Amino acid sequence: MLKSENGTYRADSLGVHLKRAVIDSQLFFRTIRQPQPMTFPFEPYSSVEALQQSVTDAFCELALQCIERKGSFQVSLSGGSTPKRVYEMLADRDLPWDKIHFYWGDERNVPADHQDSNYRMVNLALLSKIRIPSENVHPVPVNVEDPASAAAEYNSTLQATCDGKWDLVLLGMGDDAHTASLFPETKALAEQQRLFVENFVPKFDAFRYTMTYSAIAAGAECWFIITGQAKQDALQQVLTGDANPSLYPSQLIKPTRWFVDAAATQ
Ligand code: 6PG
Repeated sequence: MLKSENGTYRADSLGVHLKRAVIDSQLFFRTIRQPQPMTFPFEPYSSVEALQQSVTDAFCELALQCIERKGSFQVSLSGGSTPKRVYEMLADRDLPWDKIHFYWGDERNVPADHQDSNYRMVNLALLSKIRIPSENVHPVPVNVEDPASAAAEYNSTLQATCDGKWDLVLLGMGDDAHTASLFPETKALAEQQRLFVENFVPKFDAFRYTMTYSAIAAGAECWFIITGQAKQDALQQVLTGDANPSLYPSQLIKPTRWFVDAAATQ
């Protein structure tokens, strides 16, 4: 305490020091409270078009590398709306399609000509426009009445044709942080043995078909393609949220590449 000659305290100077201390502490707290700008394990793309171009180029580069190295390229395709434009752009590329095999990372429990079918989406965007041998195209043998048998059949197909090893697994992410058809709090999240399973999704009151985590992890390359503002919260949870893969299934994915646009990161 600052005591003056006559024993009284020099409030002003005391006041000044106190004020200084308060200001300093305010400044200190202001700095620690400042939300630190998020750092991403990737460089967001300024536009969806730039992202789609980059995925298409990278796909072609990897395909040619794999075909040169081992004579074939095994790809698991993502469904949903995000990759559709990439598939359309691939249709204009001159790739050795006879050396490329397509599989589906997930599928809806609908016939192949149904508007929700991921097979139908890829067929319209890509397959119907290229010369690829039908034996290179491996759609999920959807059985609307008995999805368990269809999933078991596809599980065997995956083991028989590519030994459950993909050169590339393409994945999207939903705004609930699901990926493929690994939805929050669903049975398929716990599957350890099989590569591919049927998965009942309460929010759709319907079955989906999906690769399991172990199948996805068996991809030599695994690319996450995520665009749009709607994915911001889910992406934040996946990147920085508390570990809770049951609620945020994409947390358990270890992508080798992220293709994310700025809109999904702001
Ligand atoms: C599917 C997908 C799914 C998709 C996400 C994102 O069949 O729906 O495979 O996992 O990637 O739902 O969907 P969008 O790309 O449409 O946002």
